[in-house]
Amino acid sequence: MKIVILLGAPGSGKGTVAGRLAASNSKLKHVSSGDLLRGAVAKGTEAGREAKTYMEAGQLVPDALIAAMIKDVVAETEGDVTMLLDGFPRNLAQAETLASMGAPVERAVLVDVPDSIIQDRIAGRRTCPKCKAGYHVKNLPPKVEGICDVCGEKLVVRKDDNPETVTDRLAVYHRETEPLIAYYEAKGILRKIDGTTGVENVANAFLAAI
Ligand code: AP5
Repeated sequence: MKIVILLGAPGSGKGTVAGRLAASNSKLKHVSSGDLLRGAVAKGTEAGREAKTYMEAGQLVPDALIAAMIKDVVAETEGDVTMLLDGFPRNLAQAETLASMGAPVERAVLVDVPDSIIQDRIAGRRTCPKCKAGYHVKNLPPKVEGICDVCGEKLVVRKDDNPETVTDRLAVYHRETEPLIAYYEAKGILRKIDGTTGVENVANAFLAAI
């Protein structure tokens, strides 16, 4: 198993790209830290109860909480698989923790989208709570309004997708996560792709980068 990290601001399209590629290639496994956390919140586990307040405020959950979840997924993933790791690491401490998990990080790909585009992306986002497929009311609409193409579930708006929380999440991204760009650049494994060019183009650029 090897790991490819997706870096990028909230709403830059990391989940869309990774989800789309993993759906059409069984050797790619999409692991989203946000989905793991939202799953724990929905189940009402102890970790989920602890994470909820941080997530709703747009702040990072404690490093140890999310690292334990990622460690479990890394440990259970074997064979000729590339893990598309979306949302972890989110700061330098998490990057060091990931490095100590023993799975090789082959690439870190930055999906580059300016802040000016992010609010519109997130304002229009709709998500399937069941199969996790992602949509956008204008850019990537479902065939039937409000209904997931894949599993027929009613689409929802994420609780943290309101303008105030998005502003806070962007600030956290610039402060905590952006230093990872230099961190992976120094290791010689960073690639940067333009995330503003439409879903299909971004997916192709991502594949070329890994
Ligand atoms: P998480 O779920 O990871 O949220 P995020 O990083 O803020 O990223 P998003 O899911 O918002 O965006 P995305 O880049 O996947 O965009 P998407 O593809 O949906 O984290 C949520 C919270 O959990 C955090 O705030 C934190 O509290 C906690 N957390 C998670 N990981 C953590 C960690 N490691 N440590 C601590 N805390 C952690 O696209 C957005 C929209 O744009 C969609 O509507 C989509 O259809 C559209 N779109 C996508 N691509 C394109 C395109 N190319 N052109 C046009 N539209 C597009």
